[in-house]
Amino acid sequence: MTDTTTPDTVFYLDCDTGIDDSLAIAYLLGTARDRLVGIGATSGNVSAAAGAENTLRLLGLAGATGIPVALGEHHPRRGEFDGGAPHVHGADGVGGVALPVTDARLVAEDAVELLADLVERHGERLHIIAIAPLTTVARALDVVPDLASRVDGITLMGGAVTVPGNITPFAEANIANDADGAAHVLAADWHTITVVPLDVTMQHRFEPRHTARLARDGGPLAQAVSAMFEAYFDFYEPGLGVRAAPLHDPLAAAIAVGDVAVVDALHDELHVDVTDSPERGRTFRAASPATVPPSDGGRRTTVTTVLGVGDDAADRILRGAASDPR
Ligand code: BDR
Ligand code: CA
Repeated sequence: MTDTTTPDTVFYLDCDTGIDDSLAIAYLLGTARDRLVGIGATSGNVSAAAGAENTLRLLGLAGATGIPVALGEHHPRRGEFDGGAPHVHGADGVGGVALPVTDARLVAEDAVELLADLVERHGERLHIIAIAPLTTVARALDVVPDLASRVDGITLMGGAVTVPGNITPFAEANIANDADGAAHVLAADWHTITVVPLDVTMQHRFEPRHTARLARDGGPLAQAVSAMFEAYFDFYEPGLGVRAAPLHDPLAAAIAVGDVAVVDALHDELHVDVTDSPERGRTFRAASPATVPPSDGGRRTTVTTVLGVGDDAADRILRGAASDPR
């Protein structure tokens, strides 16, 4: 139902590491370690700097510090970083789980430069997975104006199309935290753009039985992520009525890798409300005068908005994330 990546595809991950980001990283290391060619950290759940440090430590736990990690954009395209989501992910972004310090350092270039270099090096083999506010990707589109048409495509976690938002009644966090950046990315001239919104991510969850197996079957990284999920369960349990947490970011990663089947999707334009109104950050299908125009001035980009995936998504994510070496 959607364009999928091939075994030759390599991935740049943009994240705001975060509990579900951490599971997405463990999953990518378990399923596509050799194809993960760079990671950028953008402010979202935590500051870009804190997210970058978390990412380095996660890679350290998995013996994967050879993957370049770069500092992404701190402030959104308009306004300032709001301090993140400590009530969801803990003040440190990883639910208070102590991650061992690593000797690994950030690369000298920032994430925009890293992404631009990866475009030069890999061209249409490069697929972007964005699981954070879209500030860094949007900035990269400013710096490399033909970036979107030169890479394979982008898969991003964000939006709420037929369901309410999670940060306002209308808007999902990744989009709302930088609505202008998101609008800029959605208006670019991608070969493929796949949006993984709350409509589908809220339907696929880990429960304690999943995290218990993750800790039992996986290595140190999987065990740390399993421990982090206790804080994530604490946040989601009152709203869901059960001890469980949705798989927002891992689902986007699993769809990008081609491990989880898309069974229901919209193929349409997708826009972001960038007005100063209560609906700022809302994702919607029909264009309005406030919409950011397409980057090529004419053609509208068709977005694959995922509404349904295979029932086995949580099990596949578990299997992938538990595959990181001991
Ligand atoms: C998204 O927002 C962040 O809190 C999560 O990491 C995920 O990327 C869910 O709305
Ligand atoms: Ca995230």
